[in-house]
Amino acid sequence: MRVGILTGGGDCPGLNAVIRAIVRRTIGKYGGEVLGFRFGWAGVMEGNTLPLGIDEVSGILPRGGTILGTSRTNPFRSEGGPEAIERQFKKAGLDGLVAVGGEDTLGVGYRLFQEHDLPIVGVPKTIDNDISGTDFTFGFDTAVAIATDAIDRLHTTAESHNRVVVVEVMGRHTGWIAVKAGIAGGADLILIPEIPVTLEEVCDTIRKRHARGKRFSIIVVAEGAEFPSAETKEAADASVVVSHSGTDAFGHVRLGGIGNKLAEVIEEDTGYETRVSVLGYIQRGGTPTAFDRVLGTRFGVVAADLVHGRDFGKMASIHGDRVIPVEMSHATEAIKRVDNELYEVARTFFG
Ligand code: F6P
Repeated sequence: MRVGILTGGGDCPGLNAVIRAIVRRTIGKYGGEVLGFRFGWAGVMEGNTLPLGIDEVSGILPRGGTILGTSRTNPFRSEGGPEAIERQFKKAGLDGLVAVGGEDTLGVGYRLFQEHDLPIVGVPKTIDNDISGTDFTFGFDTAVAIATDAIDRLHTTAESHNRVVVVEVMGRHTGWIAVKAGIAGGADLILIPEIPVTLEEVCDTIRKRHARGKRFSIIVVAEGAEFPSAETKEAADASVVVSHSGTDAFGHVRLGGIGNKLAEVIEEDTGYETRVSVLGYIQRGGTPTAFDRVLGTRFGVVAADLVHGRDFGKMASIHGDRVIPVEMSHATEAIKRVDNELYEVARTFFG
């Protein structure tokens, strides 16, 4: 059995745990071989490979990033991309390929499985936790832990200076990191794309808090949050803040900058001194938490088993504490959004 692996899209802590698990399971249990492809789908199109044996994956479990490298390459946007991939499958003699990635990487994998009959299985990853069909993606727990630690630190400086501190976190068009880290860090307000809140409400909440004697506030804002106007209160009237013009190979805008805009409005409207901390890529870097190492490892083992069982078009997922295969098509469904119930818990502590 010859198994290929690629890691695509934004990196996240836990990718190396998955690679290690696929290699150890494929070689140790099935006596097979593993071939890594460098830099996501780009490496598969170009045949840029790295043989992966037990030695190559030794010691990588606690390491952040991915030893294979990654990219946001979309083969369906390159002339002859899918055909080049078919050729590389034949050349490498692959029995199956494990695509480890988010909705874009898995979406490509699913199309190649469906439209080109290629033997592909998926492993869902992203710090954003926005993939349908699984309760969690690995990388998310680490990002939440990093953001929570940052909020704890910002609390002490905000309190010392009587300031409002706006903390901008990642998450693309969902507020999972914001809401979980915000609850864990005791944020005074959490703003996420799923539940639009007007700027007037934001400022009123901070004013009320000051009125009850709390002269500092921590506001967590997800990079994809939008602010509807008070009159219409509809998200459609708002738009995301982007840090860069243009889109990537999958049509995504580059989010970022909402924290600064929000801080300006808060300071102008309330008169309270306000500062911003944009956590950015720190949330994706470094060593994974124990939870993400275990989840990545369990996903990797399931993926190797799927290839061995020739059960293609599936991806690993976790439901409760059960790690099970589900249809890979889930990854291309609507993104998984924060529900009202969780936000209600967070709201209890606002103001
Ligand atoms: O999907 C993970 C993520 O970190 C998002 O939270 C963020 O919006 C995006 O990737 C940033 O992408 P890039 O690495 O291309 O700048």
